[in-house]
Amino acid sequence: MEFIKGENLNSMTAIKVENFSFRYIQANRQNCGNLGYKQALENIDFEVSAGEKISIIGPNGAGKSTLLLNIAGLMDEYFDLKLNNNCGKIFIYGKQINIKNIYDIRQQIGFVFQNPDDQLFSTSVFEDVAFGLVNFLNKNKDLRANDKDYIKETVYLTLNKVNLKNKEDEIPHFLSYGEKKLAALATILSYDPEILILDEPSSNLDPRNRDNFINLIKSLGKTMLISTHDMDLAYEFSERCLIINDGKIVYDGSTKEILKNKDFLLENGLNLPLAFRNS
Ligand SMILES: Nc1ncnc2c1ncn2[C@@H]1O[C@H](COP(=O)(O)OP(=O)(O)OP(=O)(O)O)[C@@H](O)[C@H]1O
Ligand SMILES: [Mg+2]
Repeated sequence: MEFIKGENLNSMTAIKVENFSFRYIQANRQNCGNLGYKQALENIDFEVSAGEKISIIGPNGAGKSTLLLNIAGLMDEYFDLKLNNNCGKIFIYGKQINIKNIYDIRQQIGFVFQNPDDQLFSTSVFEDVAFGLVNFLNKNKDLRANDKDYIKETVYLTLNKVNLKNKEDEIPHFLSYGEKKLAALATILSYDPEILILDEPSSNLDPRNRDNFINLIKSLGKTMLISTHDMDLAYEFSERCLIINDGKIVYDGSTKEILKNKDFLLENGLNLPLAFRNS
């Protein structure tokens, strides 16, 4: 699939989600194994312009990860929409995700999983960060995939960016949880995809790494979606937010405005950002 880059990027719609509903198939124990369903998303509609940053906010189980995984083309086991009675469309740069292009879409969107153990599988941090980069270059027939110096330099630069300098030889499994989150972010920053989707990126980061992380993601001129319960992160990160509750979008608009609305937030299983408490 051709990925469109260029001067007019900012006037384009990068992501469009149209009337999208999604349900998981669940084994229904009460029914001796007959299939049951869990409706995770209902009639989701929104668009993201190229270069726009959006926070997806919602309580546990609201459907944030499900939405982001679908946008990134990572739900192919559920892709037979007729079978699951799922419906709706997702477009990336105007192309509807379908079973034929789902693997190409994955190359174009950098996805950082909520659980970093889902992302890190190599025997060293270096290898994990190099893996995505080499894969991306190979896919684009870019000869730098075989240039060991280029790979090394890019991996080191990326680890530096996420404050993991000198961690390249560590075994990812033994990093602290916060360090794993940063290493997982590095695995996608290394190949510089146009769209970044980060699922709960700030959880378990210490204050210094959290600040470093927020400055870093704010400085990236990318289309970005992050899901978070960290209201202060949403407040700092993006002018626009979506609030999801029980699989539905209950708000799409100014982050600053809605995060002052205590009653609305409490109604939707959320709370005021720390910055607004006791004021
Ligand atoms: N693989 C699955 N099979 C069945 N149900 C699932 C599966 N994954 C998620 N669900 C259900 O779908 C709903 C939405 O889950 P999801 O993980 O998208 O929520 P979330 O907003 O990301 O929550 P959290 O803040 O806890 O990460 C939940 O009720 C969850 O139990
Ligand atoms: Mg989640």
